[in-house]
Amino acid sequence: MKKNILITGGAGFIGSHVVNLFVKKYPDYKIINLDALTYAGNLENLKGVEKHNNYEFIKANILEAEVLHQVFTKHQITDVIHLAAESHVDRSIHSPLDFVYTNIVGTVNLLNTAKQFWNQEEDHLFYHVSTDEVFGSLGEAGYFTETTPYDPRSPYSASKASSDHFVRAYHETYGIPTIISNCSNNYGPNHFPEKLIPLFINNIIQEKPLPVYGDGNYTRDWLFVKDHAAAIDLIFNKGQKGGAYNIGGFNEWKNIDLVKLLCRLMDQKLGRPAGQSETLITYVKDRPGHDKRYAIDASKLNKELGWKPSVTFEEGLDQTIDWYLNNTQWLDNVTSGQYQQYYSNMYGNR
Ligand code: NAD
Ligand code: DAU
Repeated sequence: MKKNILITGGAGFIGSHVVNLFVKKYPDYKIINLDALTYAGNLENLKGVEKHNNYEFIKANILEAEVLHQVFTKHQITDVIHLAAESHVDRSIHSPLDFVYTNIVGTVNLLNTAKQFWNQEEDHLFYHVSTDEVFGSLGEAGYFTETTPYDPRSPYSASKASSDHFVRAYHETYGIPTIISNCSNNYGPNHFPEKLIPLFINNIIQEKPLPVYGDGNYTRDWLFVKDHAAAIDLIFNKGQKGGAYNIGGFNEWKNIDLVKLLCRLMDQKLGRPAGQSETLITYVKDRPGHDKRYAIDASKLNKELGWKPSVTFEEGLDQTIDWYLNNTQWLDNVTSGQYQQYYSNMYGNR
């Protein structure tokens, strides 16, 4: 069936994998990628699809309601996959309002536009991509399920939780067909080097300090980004409207163990003596309100739609490290300009 899908945030990390997948896999779907190209958006991530007939890029901000109106009119948007967001917890601690504007107001703008244009008799979907951080922080045991009560604890997760609530409210109140998915930590190519894995890969390459927050005994559940994109594809096409799905890697790692693994793998790849990169590990002041542990129970998605991760962590990390080593120009491009300023504000000049 023909669809005109508006994908927001398609120049970012996860969005670029979703756009690349959908444009190539579904020639009958017209993909309109709307992205403001903030520091996190990069058109280099889309080189593989930019010439495809079923793809169009629009540089715009989801805060611009009139532009959204024009885009829905011009392209007769049938579906939305909404990924545009401010996505970094540390930035949310420094500038919470940016997160309120993009993540909450921007999402409500999109919902309002869909409500204006979509008729209840037609087949539409507003797919909202969200995070497991809305569920808060776990102790040593247990998992987040789709029914875990929301308990956001950072400005980032509070803004994402709020946007999830608005998506549900628009479903209940106005009958907008919606789906929400809440995913664990992604890693892979195109990841901006401010998040743990790409930042540390970049710093190891450059032999710079690796700033581990607190004692490093915080746990995250890591998923290869292409497996997240595959889950979004499945849920978009086959998921239950009005529902929510948790997506996770069944792959928990304490930060410090993950960092030591990265150091080992990078020493091998770079031909450095074993143990060299570990000497770069530097324990720094903890992140305020640092969530202890995230772990996703993705069994609903597995049972209902048959999804499971396709690569092991070892395979995914190997591909990721190779990608960064083969794309040093990409790294140089995204770490020029404001990047140095941001890091000297965060950690001082090192
Ligand atoms: P990202 O920061 O890499 O990309 C965000 C994209 O949104 C960028 O291209 C940016 O230019 C664009 N954008 C930001 N503000 C905008 C605005 N006002 N208008 C239009 N475009 C704007 O983020 P990501 O890591 O790819 O995350 C994508 C989505 O997935 C987010 O909603 C995030 O909350 C969610 N998520 C991320 C992870 C993860 O581990 N990265 C995990 C679960 C969920
Ligand atoms: O769980 C999903 C979330 O995962 C997404 O919603 C967010 O968009 C994404 O950024 C990510 O959030 P985290 O805060 O978990 O990711 P980050 O890579 O920033 O940090 C991972 C862990 O590593 C966390 O415990 C903090 C720690 N850390 C991070 C950085 C950047 C460090 O110890 N040092 C660092 O320099």
